[in-house]
Amino acid sequence: MEPTQQPRKIILSGMQPTNNLTIGQYCGALRNWVELQHQYDSLFCVVDQHAITVRQEPAKLRKRTLDVAAMYMAAGIDPDVSTLFVQSSVPEHTQLAWVLECLAGFGEVSRMTQFKDKSAQHADNVNVGLFTYPVLMAADILLYNADLVPVGEDQRQHLELTRNLAERFNFHYSPTFTVPEPYIPKVGAKIMSLQEPEKKMSKSDANEKATIFLTDSDAEIRSKIKRAVTDSGTDIRFDAERRHGVANLMTLYHITTGASIAEIEQEFVGLGYAEFKEAVGEAIVAFIAPVRSRYEALRADEDTLKATLRRGGEHARDRARKTLRKVYKKTGFVEL
Ligand code: TRP
Repeated sequence: MEPTQQPRKIILSGMQPTNNLTIGQYCGALRNWVELQHQYDSLFCVVDQHAITVRQEPAKLRKRTLDVAAMYMAAGIDPDVSTLFVQSSVPEHTQLAWVLECLAGFGEVSRMTQFKDKSAQHADNVNVGLFTYPVLMAADILLYNADLVPVGEDQRQHLELTRNLAERFNFHYSPTFTVPEPYIPKVGAKIMSLQEPEKKMSKSDANEKATIFLTDSDAEIRSKIKRAVTDSGTDIRFDAERRHGVANLMTLYHITTGASIAEIEQEFVGLGYAEFKEAVGEAIVAFIAPVRSRYEALRADEDTLKATLRRGGEHARDRARKTLRKVYKKTGFVEL
């Protein structure tokens, strides 16, 4: 007898289209998704509805949503292998979010540290969406019965809430949702700001020089690395405690060339910061250029890009509709 085939496990993840993606997001997340898509039934979305929890300019949001989708593909997400879509094109996300909001405790959602951080950062706009943000994220995940959710460490608490909401629904009504696991890659290398190397590189840093974006030109990359903050030492030695700037450049060189830290120290014995920075700049240029050129080609053909997202959205919606129908029925909404 043929062995019965196990259905593949489901993974889902998403990023907000609040800016261009950084080299850190590429190395820390996107590259992993690209590998995972072949082992799992994969869904990747651009979470534009999450983005409006902070103020967005509509034209920019529209543009960046397409930018991020094109960047997913440039990095290697294959829309014939994975379901690639935009969150707002699948209305079931917000529909499920409402049902989950009515199960989520005000107290438990109040404990989310990201809400506390973001409401401090955007004190002039502490809106209710910012508060319920993690419940919408739970809906993104539970709609598709994802088994695994690849995210960064900063999202662990949101995943815990998602699991609690899934279990609560399953308990109150009847088993419905898969309880998802976070899939948090062991961070080998955290990439820090080029200007304040004690803090993480961020796509929303006010100082553009602090961040390498995947859309940066060769000249921009070279100039950012040349201007990167280092300490007053002279040798190329890895000391993440005291010499953040040099350590960060070494990490970037490691990531982009594959050389180990020991090999890098060896390579630059007797050389100074200027030569080292030049080598790091060139390594990053060589690493990013092919991704950027694929991105530019994909982004230039907006009709095809939109058609791809429409197809992904329809596929996602077929799946989402099934889950939502069950949820509505169990909740007690009349089927007419
Ligand atoms: N909150 C996530 C972040 O900022 C983005 C996100 C929204 C997400 N919905 C998701 C990630 C669903 C994974 C699954 O990184």
